[in-house]
Amino acid sequence: MSSSTTTNGSTTLYGGATGRRITVRDLIAAKERGERWPMVTSYDAMTARVFDQAGIPVLLVGDSAAMVVYGYDSTLPVTVDDLLPLTAAVVRGSARALVVADLPFGSYQGSAQQALETAARFMKEAGAHAVKLEGGRRVLPQVELLVSAGIPVMGHLGLTPQSVNVLGGYRVQGRGQSGDELMSDAKDLERAGAFSVVLECVPAELAERVTASLAIPTIGIGAGPATDAQVLVWQDLMGLTPRPAKFVKQYSELATEMDRAVRAFAADVTSGAFPEAGHSYE
Ligand code: KIV
Repeated sequence: MSSSTTTNGSTTLYGGATGRRITVRDLIAAKERGERWPMVTSYDAMTARVFDQAGIPVLLVGDSAAMVVYGYDSTLPVTVDDLLPLTAAVVRGSARALVVADLPFGSYQGSAQQALETAARFMKEAGAHAVKLEGGRRVLPQVELLVSAGIPVMGHLGLTPQSVNVLGGYRVQGRGQSGDELMSDAKDLERAGAFSVVLECVPAELAERVTASLAIPTIGIGAGPATDAQVLVWQDLMGLTPRPAKFVKQYSELATEMDRAVRAFAADVTSGAFPEAGHSYE
C-alpha cells in the first residue's frame, strides 16, 4: 500500500493507512492532488498518541510550548534544552506522523552553522523528522545549509512570534506593500529548499495568492481557507486557552470539562465517596 492509499483505494494523507511515517514527499504529493490536511501542535507522548491515531499527518512541537507548557508570556524564553525532551516524547508517542521541531529564538539566527548545530541536535537527540524556523530572506543561508545537510525545513512567514518586539505586537502581517515582500520571501524559501511554509496571521487573499504561487504546501494559521493545510495549537482547538485569538475555532470545551471532573474528584475525596471498594486492593 502506498503512503497515501487507504484500504478502500482512495488516496488521502489525513487518516490514510501507511505502515510507515509520513514523509515530506507525501506532503508535496498531497499538494499535487489538491488534498488539504491538518497539522496540530503536540508537546508530550499522550497527546501525540491521540492525534497520531486520529490520523493527523504532521505534529509540530512548537515553541508555543513556551506559553502553553512553560507558562511564559511569549515564545522568546524557551530554550533548545527545554524543547528537546518534549520533541523526543512526541516522537515516542507517535507512529505515523511526521514530527517537526521548532527551532527556538536565538538558536539559529546567528549563522547557518549555528542553525545546523541546533537542528542536528533535534534530529539526533530527539528523533525529529524536520525542523521549522521563522523568517524569509534573512534565514535563506540557514535553510540552504540545513537542506543540503539532509534536514527538511518548514518555513514560517507573516506573524513570526519570535520577532514580536520588532513587529510591535501580535498583529496581522502582509497588508499593503508588505504583502509583496511576503510573497517574495515565500518564493525564496521554496527556492532554498523548504518543503512547506507556515503563513500566520496574514490576509486570506494574500495567503491564497502565495498558495497558488508555490509548489510546496502552505500551512495557514489565521490565513483564511485557501492554504493547503491548517494548523492550530492543540490547547486552543480543545478549549483550554482562556482568551483564544480570532482565528481559533474551539472544537471542545476541555477547560470546562476538566474543571467539572476535578471538582467531582475533590468532592468525592472530601466526602469519603472515593475510593470505593472496587478501587481498593484486598
Ligand atoms: O509554535 C507554534 O505552535 C507555531 C504554530 C502556531 C505554527 O509556530
